[in-house]
Amino acid sequence: MLRQLALTATTLLTIATGAAFAAGGEGHIEDIDFSFEGPFGKFDQNQLQRGLKVYTEVCSGCHGLRYVPIRTLADEGGPGLPEDQVRAYAQERFVGDEGANPRLYDFNEGAARSLTENDFFPAVEAANAPDLSLMAKARAGFHGPYGTGINQFFKGMGGPEYIASILTGYTGEEKEEAGTIFYENTAFPGGWIAMAPPLYGEDVEFDDGHSNDLHHEAEDVAAFLMWTAEPKMMARKQAGFVGVLFLTIFAVLLYLTNKRLWANVKGKKRA
Ligand code: HEC
Repeated sequence: MLRQLALTATTLLTIATGAAFAAGGEGHIEDIDFSFEGPFGKFDQNQLQRGLKVYTEVCSGCHGLRYVPIRTLADEGGPGLPEDQVRAYAQERFVGDEGANPRLYDFNEGAARSLTENDFFPAVEAANAPDLSLMAKARAGFHGPYGTGINQFFKGMGGPEYIASILTGYTGEEKEEAGTIFYENTAFPGGWIAMAPPLYGEDVEFDDGHSNDLHHEAEDVAAFLMWTAEPKMMARKQAGFVGVLFLTIFAVLLYLTNKRLWANVKGKKRA
């Protein structure tokens, strides 16, 4: 028994240190209180709209969102844009022969055409930059002591924090290696990223007059990318809540039934 316990403890320790090693060079991630954190958290519609603007005006030059249907911009619980604005947004975007998602576009049509709301956001392959549709989930990370992911559990730290921290984590140092310029970044694992600082603050004007300093822009676009990665987050939380509520009531009922069934046997008088 003791030996088994000791063995388990050593195994756990090995796994923990392994994770710590794997997390070696892990960047520094800021904790941000996003509106969608916690069991009752919701996306902030205005923030998603601002984030969409940052994405469209700054990031979309290099990064695609190939898994996100444009029509979902109208979703309640998402950015909630009016239908006519969604249509106008789609029409402003063009798809040519390169960079388009071949699953979605018929190249035999030939010339570039503007999108409709039933298309997906274009993919961008030219800049060698990863698609951002699912980035907020892909980089949820294992923040916390020894890379255990505990910070996600307790502080809700995950992908959006990582993205915001990358955007604000530039130190201004650069170096060139094998013909590529790398920029020092305190949040990027390894410390050097090939993406030039995309945001400096005051890069876009927000229609709602919200502050457009660097940190706000970074948070807004990070929130928007959380939505693209998990558009049904609110529905999921709601279903989870209903489930827990149901199980709680069910457990109480079971307990009472059990008491009642055994009341005679245990020699107590029935009420
Ligand atoms: C000039 C092109 C360019 C622009 C504009 C740009 N990026 Fe990037 N981005 C890149 C490249 C290239 C990489 C790959 C960097 C690497 O792996 O070192 C990257 C990587 C990333 C990553 C992934 C980091 C990781 O963990 O792998 C995120 C997140 C990201 N960009 C977000 C953004 C956001 C948000 C914006 C808009 C505010 C933006 N980028 C604008 C070129 C760009």
